[in-house]
Amino acid sequence: MPLFIGAFALLPSIKHNKMDINFWNTRYKEAEYAYGTEPNDFLKSKIHVFKPDSKILCLAEGEGRNAVFLASQGHRITAVDYSQEGLNKLQKLALNKKLSIETLCVDLTHYKIEEHAWDGIICIFGHFPESLRKAVFGQVYKGLNKGGVFLMEAYHKDQLKYKTGGPQVVELLYSKEELQEDFSAFTAITIETCDKDIEEGKYHKGTSAVIQVVAKKSSN
Ligand SMILES: C[S@@+](CC[C@H](N)C(=O)[O-])C[C@H]1O[C@@H](n2cnc3c(N)ncnc32)[C@H](O)[C@@H]1O
Repeated sequence: MPLFIGAFALLPSIKHNKMDINFWNTRYKEAEYAYGTEPNDFLKSKIHVFKPDSKILCLAEGEGRNAVFLASQGHRITAVDYSQEGLNKLQKLALNKKLSIETLCVDLTHYKIEEHAWDGIICIFGHFPESLRKAVFGQVYKGLNKGGVFLMEAYHKDQLKYKTGGPQVVELLYSKEELQEDFSAFTAITIETCDKDIEEGKYHKGTSAVIQVVAKKSSN
């Protein structure tokens, strides 16, 4: 069964991790920005959670619409993704807006989040298999400085019924229970699920089931 809708359907071998990088590089080689150049609306609506001049890590940041938005708000940004094609477009977008962003082209499987180093960490539509999800999200709490904030939006398992974007296999979609466990170290955390209309480029379009997390590490 193919993992993703649209162009993904032509690539059954995407089931293998090695092909995932090729998939994303192929998608990002298109001239158009796959998810547009505007920031994710949940991130935009919560921008106040980050204190001024925050040092923010963007996980699975792709073509950089969110990283560029955060940099435009005066934050210091490092963006990680394993697609060099995506990061090339991120740098193009940043250059157009005269912004400077550090990029790291690395598979999150091999990336260690520096501990006590970040005022903010975000992950927008980063969908990982269970072992990687646990490994990556399990490092978030320690990665944050005191008072630091983690924010994410991703597709919920209910997204399977909509087919309006994202992975089309339940293993790559998230539930509230899974994320509650991943982020159990946080005492101040909200995890919400909702259905909403998404218009992000041509690959995220229409009514969608999402899960949203905002978690703050204690300042003491
Ligand atoms: C749906 S895109 C989201 C991109 C971006 N966060 C946004 O909202 O525009 C998912 C991203 O996850 C990245 N990704 C998936 N698995 C990864 C991994 N193991 N290591 C690094 N990046 C990964 C892909 O390259 C892709 O850019």
